[in-house]
Amino acid sequence: GLADDPLRPTFHVTPPANWLNDPNGLIHWNGRYHLFYQYNPTGPFHNTIHWGHAVSDDLIHWEDRPVALSPSPDGPDRDGCWSGCAVDDDGTATILYTGGRDKKQLPCIATAADETLSSWVKDPANPVIEETPAEPEVLRTEDWEGEFRDHCVWREDGVWHQLIGAGMEGGGGAALLYVSENLRDWEYRGPILSGDRDTAGTVWECPELLDFGDRHLLHVSNYEDVVYFLGTYDDGEFTAERRDKLDHGDFYAPQSMWTDDGRILTWGWIPEARDVSAQWDAGWSGTMSLPRELTLADDGGLCQRPAPELTALRGANTHHDELRLSSGDRQRVDVESRAFELRATVRLEDAEAVELSVLETPNRAERTPIRYTRDSEMYVDRSESSHDPEATTATQRMRVTPYDSPLSLRVFVDGSVVEVFANERHCLTSRVYPTSEDATGISLAADGGRATVASLDVWEMQSAWDAEREPSVREKPST
Ligand code: FRU
Repeated sequence: GLADDPLRPTFHVTPPANWLNDPNGLIHWNGRYHLFYQYNPTGPFHNTIHWGHAVSDDLIHWEDRPVALSPSPDGPDRDGCWSGCAVDDDGTATILYTGGRDKKQLPCIATAADETLSSWVKDPANPVIEETPAEPEVLRTEDWEGEFRDHCVWREDGVWHQLIGAGMEGGGGAALLYVSENLRDWEYRGPILSGDRDTAGTVWECPELLDFGDRHLLHVSNYEDVVYFLGTYDDGEFTAERRDKLDHGDFYAPQSMWTDDGRILTWGWIPEARDVSAQWDAGWSGTMSLPRELTLADDGGLCQRPAPELTALRGANTHHDELRLSSGDRQRVDVESRAFELRATVRLEDAEAVELSVLETPNRAERTPIRYTRDSEMYVDRSESSHDPEATTATQRMRVTPYDSPLSLRVFVDGSVVEVFANERHCLTSRVYPTSEDATGISLAADGGRATVASLDVWEMQSAWDAEREPSVREKPST
């Protein structure tokens, strides 16, 4: 069953079974944290999307709730309730999401039917935007009359603002701005930023604008990557100063939540990196990333660190001080579990590289090395991650700013997920599918010289789910 699948994460948010993609409608409401997600209750594939629902009191222990939003057979969301966000409209929890009908993508609104956000009342006036902008024209494809979806909504000077993701005819992806007095009548203002097609993709999905005070961050998902722009937003225009990827691996369509103490926590969808038949056999597909806290550093760069709340899931600890690595010898750390956090501080000394291998069998036949090199590159090498011939072998990589020496590393391993945070700035999320039951070990080695792991901690991580999960949370009709 799903509960004994060693590849299924236990301290990440997963659907009770079946398919999950984007996080949606993140909101702290009536004392509880709500995470909705793109969900297909009928199987582990993307079709007729509903909003699944998980709630938490502490951001780390989660509870499944029944499906919160379902397509209405005669509604503008007949083919699916796609991504959207939640806002507090003067005490009424309100969601804006994209309905799909035929070849159209139709912005819709719904209000909470009760304080537990378990069901939503769709506005009879839906869709709230009927036509896509005429000038410049929204990209038409064979499948869609207009690439035009996903919502980021905020209030500024008493006026509601919304971004919708789009692709523009003859151009690239764009984040389109609308304004409204009442969340229902929207006036189009134009793109706050649009990309160049060659480097930033033809369509921007799930745009999100985050306010850091005097500076802003806009991120968009361009089918491949989550690209972020750091700069300033003012009066309908975004001026980008820097640009990078939010994550260099398997991570997509993130959305953020503001905590009561003013922090920004971001979750993304971690898709599968195995073929559809393997997903079908597993009975589940997709997991949410861990929440990350986003801040700006003094030098203006973006910091991403695991939400501090996560330390409460730590269980049994193994600690090592000053592990010295010399070229050719390998040190092992035994781990019994496939759900753990590893924290290490690494000094390269005169080594060319340090390798930290996780999910490793005793004979090393299956292993996933994370390599950090002298020229500040980090690699997740999946060539030997799995004996399964269908599993991906692609190496993932990122540059790590050498702003600080030694390297500080936090790695979260959970079933088939490896989430790497380097120097609290750079993230690489990876999917790996080891087949051996004993692929739980860790080993460390240096290449071409000596290196020191100044400190190493491994914590087994407790499950995020208290109760026995009901794999078939029943669909609840929406109003
Ligand atoms: C991103 C996305 C969104 C869309 C949703 C549909 O992964 O394609 O653009 O709203 O997923 O499930």
